Amino acid sequence: MPEKIRVLIVDDVATTRENIKKLMEFHPEVVAVGQAGTGEEAIAQAKTLRPDVVLMDINMPGMDGIEATERLSLEVPEASIIIMSVQGEQEYLRRAMMAGAKNYLTKPFTGDELIHAAKDAFNRDRKVRDVLRGKAGEKKQGKVISIFSGKGGVGKTTLAVNLAVALASRPSTKVVIVDADIQFGDVALTLNVLPRSTMADVVAEKDHLDDNTLAAYMTAYSDQLHVLAAPLRPEQAESVSGKLVGAVLKQLRQSYDLILVDTASAFNEATIAALDAADAVVVMAALDLLTVKNTKLALEIMQSLGYAEEKIMLVLNRATPEGGIEAKEVETTLKRTFATAIPTDGKTVVGALNKRIPFVLSHPAAAVSQQVTSIAAMVAPPREEISAGDAKNSRRFKFFGR
Ligand SMILES: Nc1ncnc2c1ncn2[C@@H]1O[C@H](COP(=O)(O)OP(=O)(O)OP(=O)(O)O)[C@@H](O)[C@H]1O
Ligand SMILES: [Mg+2]
Repeated sequence: MPEKIRVLIVDDVATTRENIKKLMEFHPEVVAVGQAGTGEEAIAQAKTLRPDVVLMDINMPGMDGIEATERLSLEVPEASIIIMSVQGEQEYLRRAMMAGAKNYLTKPFTGDELIHAAKDAFNRDRKVRDVLRGKAGEKKQGKVISIFSGKGGVGKTTLAVNLAVALASRPSTKVVIVDADIQFGDVALTLNVLPRSTMADVVAEKDHLDDNTLAAYMTAYSDQLHVLAAPLRPEQAESVSGKLVGAVLKQLRQSYDLILVDTASAFNEATIAALDAADAVVVMAALDLLTVKNTKLALEIMQSLGYAEEKIMLVLNRATPEGGIEAKEVETTLKRTFATAIPTDGKTVVGALNKRIPFVLSHPAAAVSQQVTSIAAMVAPPREEISAGDAKNSRRFKFFGR
């Protein structure tokens, strides 16, 4: 299947945007991945959607097409901009080309004219785009970290979200959080983002997932942290197969450094796909009898699925003993030790949840936040640490070499 040119349509008139979109529907070479009604919206959308081509109206109230072109050329340099204008805007058009537009279309245009301009801009910028998207060199090999617990309500989403935010605060680290709690996922709500599309929409792309396709389904929390949200309604979950979840995670490795996966506390298709795909699985437990029982079962199942011991990291949440069970006893029952423990802190954790701000941001000094940061360092050692280690080794090497 030849690659489709992914187009963002920018025009302040909604009917014009719709007409262009309809025009594109007759041409399989292109696909409209989004629409924007203002220059500001165009920049925000382009940053998230990473389109190949932006069709930019020149005349818009507020930030006009020229200013938006100028900014897009700097902020999303791999997108080729095609300016749309009406007859008699020659001077304007010249300025747009100076600002970085690659081609122009005079309204009204035909579908063929549109395709011709899009292909021309797409092919001319292909090399630049490949280099900027890292295709020319090595592809990314992002790491998948799945968060699971044998019992619900143990704190998976809380940890997944705060871990993702902590990891995305590292310089030039792209993180995505995938909500694989397909029926009752609440990552988007916890992060206070409103998804335009979800995993349920990705189903339509199942036969042609590629590097760029998935970008269209992401919701941006920040430049460095994206969210692939769970379907908004439980009944949409049926269409999301484990195979799809696996394929999505595999694909995301090429575009993100770290892929965090929140799961449901059930061994359903989506969970198993998330656990299979993971380089590391964080299993969360707590100090109550039912959780301990289910954690034990879950660990046994994971063992029977053939997961390596090193892949699993056991974390105790709400570690402050209240009900008479001690962490030590749980370790004995589970025949495993906890890698770390997160204290109970309802004031910080539930308070932050209700304000919909991740606590690692609102309360960075709190013990819970410090623990999340240390878990981040365990599941994904920061690059500085790796290079510091390398530097030490190389120094030692030099020392012996002399
Ligand atoms: N360390 C903690 N101290 C106090 N409260 C916590 C702590 N960790 C999580 N919570 C609270 O426990 C509740 C359940 O947490 P969360 O939703 O993250 O669990 P979950 O495992 O994702 O649940 P589900 O299985 O329903 O998806 C939330 O209200 C959360 O704020
Ligand atoms: Mg959850």
